[in-house]
Amino acid sequence: MPKKINIAIVGFGNIGSFFYKTLEKNKKSIALKTGKDIFIKYISAKQLNKKRIIKIPKPKWIKNPLELTTKNDVDIIVELIGGSDGMAKKLIFAALKNKKHVITANKSLMSKHGDMLALLAERNNVNLEYEASVAGGVPVIRLIKEGLISNKIKKIYGILNGTTNFILSSMEETGKSFVEILDYAKKLGFAESNPISDLNGSDAAAKIKILSSLAFNKKISEKKILTEGIQHLNQEDIDHAKNLGYKIKLLAVSETINGKLMERVHPCLVDKNSYIANINSVLNAIIVDGYPIGRTVLQGEGAGPGATSSALISDLCSILRGNIKYPFGVSHAMRKTTKSFNILKRYCSSYLRVEVKDQHGVLSSITKIFAKNKISIKNLIQIPDKKKKKASIIIITHKTLELHYNKLIKNLNKNKFLIKKPTFIRIEKV
Ligand code: HSE
Repeated sequence: MPKKINIAIVGFGNIGSFFYKTLEKNKKSIALKTGKDIFIKYISAKQLNKKRIIKIPKPKWIKNPLELTTKNDVDIIVELIGGSDGMAKKLIFAALKNKKHVITANKSLMSKHGDMLALLAERNNVNLEYEASVAGGVPVIRLIKEGLISNKIKKIYGILNGTTNFILSSMEETGKSFVEILDYAKKLGFAESNPISDLNGSDAAAKIKILSSLAFNKKISEKKILTEGIQHLNQEDIDHAKNLGYKIKLLAVSETINGKLMERVHPCLVDKNSYIANINSVLNAIIVDGYPIGRTVLQGEGAGPGATSSALISDLCSILRGNIKYPFGVSHAMRKTTKSFNILKRYCSSYLRVEVKDQHGVLSSITKIFAKNKISIKNLIQIPDKKKKKASIIIITHKTLELHYNKLIKNLNKNKFLIKKPTFIRIEKV
């Protein structure tokens, strides 16, 4: 690798421009740590004429980012466009084919095309780095690939989405509704104008797929994993959970059970005194359970220009140090396709909130459905609302098969006393 390295940045919004400024500020320290001088040679953005705070010299601007992939004076391409397909995909495939190192913050692209991209990087002897794609500035990818290299990982889990963590913890702190807090999060810039992939769990699902493939040396799961979001939760659930000694968190979990892999994202009731229960606001946290190290915990900013730039520069320095590595830690040929554990065979306790008409016979009609589905009730609280002639029944169950919960919910939905669909939240031992 030559001493002077030319970088091209594609995508120049909030993150891109902050990254540019941070790189310019850190040039000396990067040279000190890597022995390489970096130069931001080109920048490409959708809107070239947009008014920007930073003045970029005209010769740096490139209209068609694909041109960068064949330029001799480009060594590293930093992709900050986003999206699993479209230009981001075309750019990265072309860049790797043309032997350019690639840095990306794109979790949807990595979780969908990561295997093919890794193979391409391996064949062309270049790096594909993606630290910023999972948990923003928290260096979890480097931790698994390097720091914990000697460990056999059994389980990796945590809070991988800052938007939903902000919403859940703010609802708990302020007593305000989901909609009010979501609006507030949008105003603060913590939630995007269309936060659907955060709220429905798919953002966290893409991230846990990437982490589990690193942790278990396996190909990225192609099948849809169990993914549930937080849109159906309300203040009542937060309050009931609190009174019962829990907090609600959206967790992403990946673990192996008898050689099979179970990946899932869903809201969980967790012990209010546990470590993960006390990760609030937009923070992310990841717990890795490995042998011989035991438990390792990482927490920090999971999004935003500062956190993302920190991870991007870490990727850049890894490349500058001449450390060509397999993108997923082991070669493509050695990464297995692991069978998935049938989630219907998983046991857990759970919380259910059932809204019913307040009439005689309702409670026994509901509890009968539990008995019919072999589900044993541990706790039951009934909260009547005289004005609305309805009642909330809060039930905590003993450990039960997921399969039985599925049947229970189907049967509950058919019950004539039910006012709306029941809320079901799994209880997670953390
Ligand atoms: N939207 C994500 C979050 C950050 O809220 O955590 C980008 O992955």
